[in-house]
Amino acid sequence: MPITTCIFDAYGTLFDVGSAARKLAGRPGQKALAACWQALAEDWRLKQLQYSWLRAVTGEYEPFWQLTQDGLDWALEKHGLHGNLALREDLLALYWELEAYREVPMMLAKLRAMGKTCAILSNGSKEMLSAAVESAVIGESLNAVLSVEDVGVFKPASIVYDLVGAHLGCLESEVLFVSSNGWDAAAATGYGFKTAWVNRAGDPMDHLAHRPAHVLTDLTTIPDLVT
Ligand code: LAC
Repeated sequence: MPITTCIFDAYGTLFDVGSAARKLAGRPGQKALAACWQALAEDWRLKQLQYSWLRAVTGEYEPFWQLTQDGLDWALEKHGLHGNLALREDLLALYWELEAYREVPMMLAKLRAMGKTCAILSNGSKEMLSAAVESAVIGESLNAVLSVEDVGVFKPASIVYDLVGAHLGCLESEVLFVSSNGWDAAAATGYGFKTAWVNRAGDPMDHLAHRPAHVLTDLTTIPDLVT
């Protein structure tokens, strides 16, 4: 079955989640952040994700924006920066305008020129996603931005992947699902999508029930996978 539809995870896949801490650390007067921004950004992301998995398992849904704040609060405390309220506010504000990876606009434009349907499927709250899409100026290349908000549970619950067929009317076998999260790519493979794992960090493959069809170092070659 030819691929008609390309679905992208948002945070970490299209948008660089490390860019908020990196940007702020580069500003004058941010000595404490400059000393730890990479570790802080990693802890922030890890806690945000852990909270999403735990809340999916326990059925205690809170919007991803709340989890993003909760993860940041944990990371700030770990790095001894929790007393700095201005720093917290600045990091959260930057999360609404994360940088897209450099190759994203061209890659999406190519897919659209090939007649492919392109959409985001993300844990992100709708408002966060609209802000990120607007700030990266990629809205024109997207047919839809699908959020877990509609089902009240996070990936990798399969009801989230159901949103693709429900909104876009395609079969699982027509979809290329692209994620930088190994666990997301694995779950989407088990769901029945063709998958690409974007492994920018050169991490080992996750030891889960399913393996992605493709492993890439960035998004540049996505159009080649769907010709
Ligand atoms: C998302 C997270 C998992 O955008 O990165 O869904």
